[in-house]
Amino acid sequence: MKKILDMLTEEMQKAFEAAGYEGALGRVTVSNRPDLCEYQCNGAMAGAKQYKKAPIMIANDVAAKLVNSKVFQEVEAVAPGFLNLKITEEFLLEYLQGMESADKFGLDMPANPKKIIVDYGGPNIAKALHVGHLRPAIIGESVKRIARFVGHDVVGDIHMGDWGMPMGLIIQELQERYPNLPYFDEDFQGEYPEEAPFTIAELEEIYPTASGKSKEDPAYKEKAMEATLKLQNGERGHRALWNHIMRVSIADLKRNYSNLNVEFDLWKGESDAHDWIPDMVKDMKEDGYAYISDGALVVDVKEESDTKEIPPCIILKSDGAALYNTTDLATIKMRMVEYQPDKIIYVTDKRQDLYFEQVFRCAKKTKLVKPETELFHIGFGTMNGKDGKPYKTRQGGVPRLENLIGEINEEMLRKIKENSETKGYRVDEEEASKTAQIVGLAAVKYGDLSNQPAKDYVFDVDRFTSFEGDTGPYVLYTIVRIKSILAKYKEQGGDLEKAQLQTAQNASEKAFVMELAKFNGIMEAAYEESAPNKICAYIYDLANQFNRFYHETPILSEENAVKKAGWIALLELTRDILETCIDLLGFSAPERM
Ligand code: ARG
Repeated sequence: MKKILDMLTEEMQKAFEAAGYEGALGRVTVSNRPDLCEYQCNGAMAGAKQYKKAPIMIANDVAAKLVNSKVFQEVEAVAPGFLNLKITEEFLLEYLQGMESADKFGLDMPANPKKIIVDYGGPNIAKALHVGHLRPAIIGESVKRIARFVGHDVVGDIHMGDWGMPMGLIIQELQERYPNLPYFDEDFQGEYPEEAPFTIAELEEIYPTASGKSKEDPAYKEKAMEATLKLQNGERGHRALWNHIMRVSIADLKRNYSNLNVEFDLWKGESDAHDWIPDMVKDMKEDGYAYISDGALVVDVKEESDTKEIPPCIILKSDGAALYNTTDLATIKMRMVEYQPDKIIYVTDKRQDLYFEQVFRCAKKTKLVKPETELFHIGFGTMNGKDGKPYKTRQGGVPRLENLIGEINEEMLRKIKENSETKGYRVDEEEASKTAQIVGLAAVKYGDLSNQPAKDYVFDVDRFTSFEGDTGPYVLYTIVRIKSILAKYKEQGGDLEKAQLQTAQNASEKAFVMELAKFNGIMEAAYEESAPNKICAYIYDLANQFNRFYHETPILSEENAVKKAGWIALLELTRDILETCIDLLGFSAPERM
């Protein structure tokens, strides 16, 4: 289905042409003076020079061609040459009916769907998820869902940090604590135990301990490096122990991410890239891209047009060790073979902007990807506390994700109870705490996603959990309100199936419907610009328009059954669109709140 603005533009272009002007001048936009008109066209101004005519004359000519338009009910040429437009209720109704009956509310599917991998999350094995993992999870999940919704073939990959020195450190510390475990006995031939010799709690404590020790004790560090090497060389016992570490960690990660309503299709990690490194390095050398500089193997990635210094990509350190970017490059190689993506999107902190620029250039230059493969980095800003500095706990530490979410849910529960008290109804304790979880997640996610990803934002529990203003709970509250009207309509004996859309009855209804009609345009922009914030802005405006309409229109007490059913159909469509949108943002609405 065409976008409403495109349809209005087409009608306008025909009028320009009929009046003897170039059609391209007839671009229609949403009015920036909603008090005067609904849409506008500034083409007459743009055409003045070309036709050596006063813009108002052109505008008058065009307006004259639109007197019988079925699309525009009002076309006003105003000085110095604007065309102020109002559309007909019939045209709007037809558009709305189109949205209602079409798949995905009239969003057209791409002619050539792309295969897209979204690389997001990036947690590190055996380390507790902390506040720094919140943004990649929230933004990545939404970007993935949007890309899938607009019709691409999308795979989300968690890309765990599950390899290298941290793993060696954990194994070394385990060896110190439990030297008699069979994993450390090189002569052990039997089956290793199925049960891991540690719990997740112990694992999370082990890593910081080991990391601390290695900084103080060079001998300890040396042994950890040896353990890393043994693991990487495939030593049986080390691999078996690593498998335990992975299993225990992944189970915990799955629980944590599922609480965030975040789901990965692939649970791959840096370890999966390991075996792809030797061949990649060999090719880079043989093809003449990689050369030795100060002992390290590097690929130059600077380009003539660079305005800032782009350092070479270091592929191997002078001791032959692989680096963070070696893994990312090998992962690209692996993905190209296994999935043939047209596009790979990475969601990480924007401090990695330069890093990804280097990696992408290197991948293109060394032909790991095709010239047309899109490599795209979404660099997000920092989540700050109210003091404007990176978010910390009250004790000054980096908060664990679970605690942070717990805090939000508590606050949400308090507000839900408070709300029920002021409204005078009782909530069941268990239901209230379930609702608090659903609404709490919306509060956190909306608080994040309503900002442009690249911007820093202030994590403000109080504001995020408010039922009023530009917040997740406000949007959910609106959905719940719509659902409750629909339920009451049914109680009154109304049949939702039979309800049919009608032409808008008043100004607030029309404004509300015009907002709804932006849907496909918003979805396209949210995908193209990797901007979930566009969806937030849309549902916030929509919720506002709905609430204005609702306050002016006594829906359930309307006597005219056809009118009433028309509003009910409009509400159903609105509920479906809002629920689709929040699903794309990665949260859902409760039945009541
Ligand atoms: N595990 C990394 C970290 O914690 C983030 C990984 C980001 N993704 C990537 N493909 N490099 O810093």
